[in-house]
Amino acid sequence: GLGTVVAVDGPAAAGKTTTCLALSKSFDLRYLESGRTYRIIAFEALQRRIPVDNATKVTCLCDELITASRSASLLTSDRYAPDNLRATRVNVAVSAVAKIAEVRQRVTSLIRLWAGAQPRCVIEGRDIGTTIFPAATVKFYLTAKPEVRAMRRVRQERSASYEHVLDDVIRRDEADMSRATSPLVPAEDAIRIDTTDLTVEQVLRLMTSACRDRG
Ligand code: C5P
Repeated sequence: GLGTVVAVDGPAAAGKTTTCLALSKSFDLRYLESGRTYRIIAFEALQRRIPVDNATKVTCLCDELITASRSASLLTSDRYAPDNLRATRVNVAVSAVAKIAEVRQRVTSLIRLWAGAQPRCVIEGRDIGTTIFPAATVKFYLTAKPEVRAMRRVRQERSASYEHVLDDVIRRDEADMSRATSPLVPAEDAIRIDTTDLTVEQVLRLMTSACRDRG
């Protein structure tokens, strides 16, 4: 394990998933969407009526989920429908869950464990290049104006209203950037890409050439 690790961080709806999936194909990397794990924990907390701001109870739930799924496979569990994990109530709850230091510690350990078992991987999240893999092979920080990110998300998902998505994006960015443990910030050595005026193809060209240079 721990050959190539490509870290892709950035705010909500910055294009991380789209570009990571493309990179994973081009460079034969295993792909991990780390936000999904925080969403699973938030979803389960809501299902069980556990208050998401109760650190002790949510940490306890987190331990239970890790034990039940035999450790790192919680990260890739196929028991959760994407629609459930992307529901509005989960979008709201996930920031609270992701703020809990003990939960972050556990998710961090799982991700390191998972990555150690992969020959080469690309991981998207908020703290991959800063906290989880400070020595990642290549680090990207993708961003764009909130209005542009919200518009892209609306086009992609169709259902939600623009105002609603924009509010969610801004609220989550603020929560992620202001929390005490592993806040969302670009790693010093991350390649920053503002995708506001770029197409997916242009972004991918930049990312691909950086991976070729460093990988
Ligand atoms: O990437 P996604 O939007 O699915 O992430 C959902 C939430 O999970 C983020 O808003 C953030 O609060 C949290 N998260 C995190 N650290 C990560 C990945 C996601 O705190 N590495």
